[in-house]
Amino acid sequence: MKKSTLCAIVLTVLFSACAGQKVVKQEPVQEPVGVAESGYAQSFETDNGGFFPRGGEELLTLSTESAHSGNYSLKVENRSKAWHGPSVRIEQYLEQGKEYTLSLWVKLISPNASQLQLSTQVGEGNAASYSNIARADISTASGWLQLAGTYRYDNTSSGYITVYVESSTDAPASFYIDDVQVSELISAPLVLEDLPPLKARYEGTFLIGNVIAPTGTSGQRFELLKKHFNILTAENAMKPSSLQHDKGVFTFEDVDKMIDTVRAEGFKVHGHTLAWHQQSSEWMNYDGISRDEAIDNLVTHAKTVAGHFSGKVISWDVLNEAIVDNPQHPTDWKASLRQSPWYKAIGPDYVEIVFKAAREADPEAMLYYNDYNLDNQNKSLAVYSMVKDINERNPQVNGRPLIDGIGMQGHYVTNTNPTNVRLSIERFISLGVEVSITELDIQAGSNSQLTEKQALQQGIAYANLFKIFKEYAQHIGRVTLWGLEDSSSWRAATNPLLFDKDLHAKPAFYAASDPERFIAQNEALLPQDAKRVDARYGTPTIDGAVESLWNGVPSVNVDQQLMAWQGATGTAQALWDDSNLYVLITVTGAELNKANTNAYEQDSVEIFVDENNHKTSFYEEDDGQFRVNFANEATFNPASVAGGFVSAATVSGKSYTVEIKIPFKHIQPADGTEIGYDIQINGASASGIRQSVAIWNDLTGNGYQDTSGYGILTLTAK
Ligand code: XIL
Repeated sequence: MKKSTLCAIVLTVLFSACAGQKVVKQEPVQEPVGVAESGYAQSFETDNGGFFPRGGEELLTLSTESAHSGNYSLKVENRSKAWHGPSVRIEQYLEQGKEYTLSLWVKLISPNASQLQLSTQVGEGNAASYSNIARADISTASGWLQLAGTYRYDNTSSGYITVYVESSTDAPASFYIDDVQVSELISAPLVLEDLPPLKARYEGTFLIGNVIAPTGTSGQRFELLKKHFNILTAENAMKPSSLQHDKGVFTFEDVDKMIDTVRAEGFKVHGHTLAWHQQSSEWMNYDGISRDEAIDNLVTHAKTVAGHFSGKVISWDVLNEAIVDNPQHPTDWKASLRQSPWYKAIGPDYVEIVFKAAREADPEAMLYYNDYNLDNQNKSLAVYSMVKDINERNPQVNGRPLIDGIGMQGHYVTNTNPTNVRLSIERFISLGVEVSITELDIQAGSNSQLTEKQALQQGIAYANLFKIFKEYAQHIGRVTLWGLEDSSSWRAATNPLLFDKDLHAKPAFYAASDPERFIAQNEALLPQDAKRVDARYGTPTIDGAVESLWNGVPSVNVDQQLMAWQGATGTAQALWDDSNLYVLITVTGAELNKANTNAYEQDSVEIFVDENNHKTSFYEEDDGQFRVNFANEATFNPASVAGGFVSAATVSGKSYTVEIKIPFKHIQPADGTEIGYDIQINGASASGIRQSVAIWNDLTGNGYQDTSGYGILTLTAK
């Protein structure tokens, strides 16, 4: 559908709901098929329309400080958790099985930049499931921004359904909301396609899983689950706060029913999770609790829950997400532990304590440690070190270590480097434990939109991973997808799953089903060979003036755009001598804005250097990223590469020139030496957020942590 048609439809929605008072300042982000008349609409002109604070302590007030329409909006302050925010019950406007457009407008008050998301909750307590409908990067300069998406309410029987706004990270933000709209979509009926069952493709290879909620055991979605998957994880229902919300009160009933039903249909069940710093009630490990009481809470919960489900689950995520992101000293696993409430109350031995409790209560179930971002080599090394140490100190019982397995959640993006996933799988296998992929999804596109090209790129990403999973299948117990269709994903806005909202298979499905074939059919999308350019021998003065030495030095165009906006571009040349690399970059079409506190969001150039050209999927010691803005302010990644760096910058109109000296620290440069090299230009908008990224070679945007996509610079002409 063309953008103009799309605008017209969404405009109709907003106008019809609000009697023509609306001024639409941003383009709408979502594409309804058709809109029915009933629904919920709220513009806060007379009252707060039933909105309440999700966490209880947020401040919601009607405000005239800013409004998307009319005079009032709802001001939201005093949030302290990512999930806090304004929420409203909408079940009375919904009919089971129908699909709805959810939309509202937000405007950020503080901090300067944040990420807000529109989400929906279905059910309460341990029956609750939560889906993110739309997400936006927003700054105080963005003004009013629309968050919109669609959701199919397959089950309304809980009688409790809300839409709400929250942060996607832990940053508490204050903001206004206005013009909330929930309206029915006329969408295609759900028809199951005739596809080869995924579980049959992987029979005898590994189990293939998905997620379920207690309300999800009937209907077309359940039929699709039964067709393709043979093991289920409760997406939320078996987490600590769901099963023991109040101390001593275990609520097993809904989950028991769910497990009985799915087991009767032939599914196996995996348990998720006994201990986690999220979705855990505060009484369990509040600030200031004594070590003894915390241990008692941890052990009681783990034993009661694992004992209750013993014989019904084949495995447990005993502990979830205990290691920090990108730990600096990964071989010291205790120093790499997240400062979670459990850690603060008990100390590092809480890890062993909860595994022992689980083993005692259910000696049969495979016990897993589960975490995300395990493609990060530092994080995977920390997990490896932890499991190794604990398993070495605890004697095996019946040939089994205390920690049987490591779960790699696998919440990925299309440019996640599969080599890093492979390296981590190999590292974990070397411990003699089982590996499972426990929450696989791959984000692509945005605002619930996925272009054809993005869908194929996502397919390639799935195919690359499934190819690797097949190679290591002997050590992989299970591959579980974190959701069935995009619109019910916790990351619905970024379309991460195998099926679309109408339950039709996406390219990602065919990629997961037959990865080799998918890759062969889509070769054109595979990474191209690295570009090459020569550096000439010579030593320029670093003063920002272009001396004659630079004349005739080969120049590359830095003009491949990585974002939707086509912004600043430039050219780059390189010289070298026995001690240094010299780069001259000229940028045109820049706003010359450096208002953002994130250096990469300022008008700036970046040079990526991989001295030994090893093209590793992670940074080695010789790898570095050097950034200079148009005002000659430099930043470095990692900070340790700063030594000996010199730069100069000159500005002329909307252009600027940067001249840079980077010392060689790890190689002896010689005629013919090849180094990994790339150039990036960040373009800021007039309001101070990054709106464009132009690059010479590496289109993945991953150069800050991965050198495998860099171009090649050959040192010549000495
Ligand atoms: C997510 C669920 O999918 C959402 O519905 C819920 O709002 C938050 O939790 N790592 C985990 C999972 O281990 O439990 C999380 O699931 C996703 C990240």
